[in-house]
Amino acid sequence: MARRGDEVYLGLHHVPGGIAMESFLAYLSTDHQRCDDLFAEAETAAGRRDWAGAADKFQAFRAAMLRHLEAEESLLFPAFEARLGHTGGPTRVMCNEHAQMRDLLDSMADSVAARDEAEYQGLAETLLWLMRQHNVKEEQILYPMSDQMLADARADLLERMAAVSPA
Ligand SMILES: [Fe+2]
Repeated sequence: MARRGDEVYLGLHHVPGGIAMESFLAYLSTDHQRCDDLFAEAETAAGRRDWAGAADKFQAFRAAMLRHLEAEESLLFPAFEARLGHTGGPTRVMCNEHAQMRDLLDSMADSVAARDEAEYQGLAETLLWLMRQHNVKEEQILYPMSDQMLADARADLLERMAAVSPA
């Protein structure tokens, strides 16, 4: 991805604000990467026992994650299920994993507040494993399927997903 000013160039498309909007795969994979970067920053601060920094970084990470999960659950998944004709497909598995992520984020917030580094790192390791295998499934299966099945609704849905407010 080449950056110039605040435009991001991805193949044929570029948009202001650095948001890749030409596909669900591009937009949501970019958001996964953003969440991963914030996760790493929070983990680094916690590892240094910089608890003020860790609290800030963790809050930014948690807000980005909750916003991502909300955009998927309130917009992408319902549209996907409507096209599929049922709710028993991959979105059900993804929602169950989102619930596990939210629980881990709550516990991590407690460990930051308690300044408990061992607890934080243990929870962070579990969340990282969960995010990795979850994101691979989304990026390799769900987003490409969404790009095919929802091609006609994509621009509208992406615009609404991008407008989901931070948690
Ligand atoms: Fe997800």
